Amino acid sequence: MKFFLDTADIEEIKRAKALGILDGLTTNPSLVSKTGRKFSELLPELVTLVDGPISAEVIATDTAGMIKEAEALAAVAPNIVIKIPLIPDGLVATRVLKSKGIKTNVTLCFNALQALLAAKAGATYVSPFIGRLDDIGHVGMDVVSDIKTIFTNYKFTTQIIVASIRHPLHVLEAALIGADIATIPFSVFDKLVSHPLTDKGLKRFLDDWKKVPR
Ligand code: G3P
Repeated sequence: MKFFLDTADIEEIKRAKALGILDGLTTNPSLVSKTGRKFSELLPELVTLVDGPISAEVIATDTAGMIKEAEALAAVAPNIVIKIPLIPDGLVATRVLKSKGIKTNVTLCFNALQALLAAKAGATYVSPFIGRLDDIGHVGMDVVSDIKTIFTNYKFTTQIIVASIRHPLHVLEAALIGADIATIPFSVFDKLVSHPLTDKGLKRFLDDWKKVPR
C-alpha cells in the first residue's frame, strides 16, 4: 500500500519525507489556499521535494477549460497528476487527457458507481472521500470496499486513493480492504508510528540495560 501526503505545506512534506515512506502527494484548492502562496510558484517547489505522483487540481468546471488547465499543469513535471472533479464534464476531460498520455486523479467521489464511471473514463486514480461521508452518518469505508470489488470484478487498472482520512483507523481499514493508496493528512501521518506501549517498552529496555554489567 502506498502512502501519499494530503497537504500543500512544505514543512509537513519535509517532515513526512524524512521518515522515508512517502510515495506521493495530493493537493486541492483548499489545501493550497491555507499556504497563502501562488500555486504557480508553489507547484514547482513541491516537484523538487516529492519523487512520486503529485496531484494538482483544475479549477475549470467545463471540459475544454479542464483540458487547458491540465495541459499547463502537466507541463510543470512528468510526475504531475491532474485532479478532475467527478462531474460529467470531468469524465469527458478524463477520457481526453488519457488519450494525450496525461494522468488523472478523479476526485470528489462519494459512491462506488461514480468510481466505476471514472474507471470507464480511463482515470489513473479515483479518490473516494471517506471522512466527509462519515461526517454525514454514512460508512465511508464501505464505498472503498465496493469500489475494490467492482475494480477486481472487471480488472480495471484505475488505482483507489482513499482520501479525506481523519484518523489512523481509516488507514488500517483501507489497507485491510486492499486499497492501492491512502492519502493522509500530516496530523494523521504523524500518529501512525506512535504507540504508548512502544515508548514504555523502549524505556524499560533502556533502563534494564543500565543494570547489565559492563
Ligand atoms: O484531498 C482530498 C481530501 O483528502 C480532502 O479531505 O479532510 O478536506 O475532507 P478533507
